[in-house]
Amino acid sequence: MQIAIIGSGNVGKALAGSFTRAGHDVTLTASNPDHAREAAAQSGGRAAESNREAAAAAELVALAVHYPLVDGVVAELGDALAGKVVVDVTNRVDPADPGSTMDGTSAAEQIQARAPEARVVKAFNTAFAARQADPVVEGVALDAFIAGDDDQAKQAVAELAGSIGFRPIDAGPLVMARALEAMALLNITLQLRNNWPWQAGFKLVGPTP
Ligand SMILES: NC(=O)c1ccc[n+]([C@@H]2O[C@H](COP(=O)([O-])OP(=O)(O)OC[C@H]3O[C@@H](n4cnc5c(N)ncnc54)[C@H](OP(=O)(O)O)[C@@H]3O)[C@@H](O)[C@H]2O)c1
Repeated sequence: MQIAIIGSGNVGKALAGSFTRAGHDVTLTASNPDHAREAAAQSGGRAAESNREAAAAAELVALAVHYPLVDGVVAELGDALAGKVVVDVTNRVDPADPGSTMDGTSAAEQIQARAPEARVVKAFNTAFAARQADPVVEGVALDAFIAGDDDQAKQAVAELAGSIGFRPIDAGPLVMARALEAMALLNITLQLRNNWPWQAGFKLVGPTP
């Protein structure tokens, strides 16, 4: 799959490495082009000169920037997102006031509203970068929860998640991104409160036929 990753930080690098190892073609961008080039060199991907250039050539665009920057990035990408699978990996986090982000919406729904021609899917946000880089813990494949309104787009993301080692799980329509963002918030809060090392990920146990 031809994949553009907007953002070359913890998430951009981790997903780029996993995607290229699985045989996908990855292009990265960053605010500082040197960071995109470094991430591309580390992960076996390529750096693009601009977000639009990366998105235009991709079948799937992953948004891996901080939430406050998403609006600007989506506006910049504009019609380059039309018809594309857009994977929202972002989380909204305010550790000082966790409830403030549980406000009856989600980043993914906001992106879909701003880019109505895009096929927005929420995925990978429930896994920390360490687990995006390596989704298998002691032989157990972590679950990748995937929410979206476009079944074909969701299926493409499920195949992508499976190709890098997750067990993909269809979490329902895009509105379920609210739950996925809250799951991430829970895990972030647990790491902060307990001084855990940002390695734990979600796995449903018990029969899930
Ligand atoms: N870290 C995790 O474990 C994790 C897990 C799941 C979800 N998330 C979410 O994923 C998102 C990224 O987190 P992160 O930890 O990867 O952050 P990060 O390490 O700070 O990386 C953010 C990246 O975004 C780039 N960027 C900023 N503005 C940009 C623009 N206009 N166009 C293109 N790239 C731009 C930055 O470029 P520069 O390098 O040039 O500054 C940087 O490479 C956040 O929404 C976060 O909540 C994080």
